[in-house]
Amino acid sequence: MIPVFEPQYDDKEINLVVAALKAGEISGTFGKYIEEFENLFAQYSGCKYGVAVSNGTTALHMAVAALEIQRGDEILVSASTNIASALCVYHNQGITVPIDSEPETWNLDISLIEKLITPKTKAIIPVHLFGHPVQMNDLMKIAAKHKIAVIEDAAEAHGALCDGQKVGSFGDMNCFSFYANKIITTGEGGMITTNNSELAEKLRSLRNLGFAKPRFLHKVPAFNFRMTGMQAAFGVGQMSKIDQVIDQKRILAQWYTHELESINALQLPIEKSWAKNVYWMYGVKLKKEFGFNRDKLMQDLLAEGIDTRTFFCPMSRQPFLYEQKDFRGTTPVADDLWENGFYLPSSIILTQKEVQFIGAALKKLLA
Ligand SMILES: Cc1ncc(COP(=O)(O)O)c(C=O)c1O
Repeated sequence: MIPVFEPQYDDKEINLVVAALKAGEISGTFGKYIEEFENLFAQYSGCKYGVAVSNGTTALHMAVAALEIQRGDEILVSASTNIASALCVYHNQGITVPIDSEPETWNLDISLIEKLITPKTKAIIPVHLFGHPVQMNDLMKIAAKHKIAVIEDAAEAHGALCDGQKVGSFGDMNCFSFYANKIITTGEGGMITTNNSELAEKLRSLRNLGFAKPRFLHKVPAFNFRMTGMQAAFGVGQMSKIDQVIDQKRILAQWYTHELESINALQLPIEKSWAKNVYWMYGVKLKKEFGFNRDKLMQDLLAEGIDTRTFFCPMSRQPFLYEQKDFRGTTPVADDLWENGFYLPSSIILTQKEVQFIGAALKKLLA
């Protein structure tokens, strides 16, 4: 079986974790590795500050909490994304307003944003889906015009570039995940990057139960979203490999595109002229007019020993979201992605032979 993903690490990460353990860095409030990892990752992403947390979901949760939105405030979110991009709104008493996807990059359709903004709109969460960046310079102009905050969800796009600038350095706060299948991993883990020193300080306090002075007097209800020193040590090891991982993801994408571009029924991922796509996962979409059934195709691929995953179910179709009183939004393009999209094995250890095998299986099944 070729799995959709296998995490990669070696003695480098193992030795660093052991060193952290030997130094007693088992928790999240002391030691050198957390700060080292934060600095390395923030610098890599072109930001001044990094705040490491327990996962990408808590990174988003805390970023929205730091905005101090009120019950019923609206946050615009890419429609096609992991549910974490909307959970952060929900758990901060906000309303998620999904922005439908555009059909080429599958990211949010920037031309729809202004029509969705109301006096209640407080922020926008653009998601760099599967590693292709959102056109952040265009999006930031709209956000500045309407004075709304921007939280990039860059969980799938470490190292991706928009107009030559790293994603995760445009927004007021930017969230990353280091889950096992991400570009780099700490097992579980996440980070918020920001260039705003006050926000960074606020986030550090929010992550750590809201400790202030005097120590046990808490002015705000905060969280324990700390990353441990052991995880951060693992992350330090991963940081030395991040560019190699991205290079290999891009080679893998080239192999796939070469194998699959002759299949008329498939829409392949693209890379806009202003973008560097890190191809976190190589996603493809069945073109509706050819009449193939996506679920049947995935089953047939599984029978050939090829594991795949569907694209995300859009935010407009999530019961706990659309049952909210003020919910609005239909997202036909994101619906099509959910019904017809799936991603192929995308581990960096895949060989060209394996990609050829997957390509041959798809050619046969879609003949
Ligand atoms: C776009 C996106 N946002 C947020 C998350 C949540 O990250 P985590 O799994 O680390 O909580 C993920 C994925 O896992 C994701 O793909």
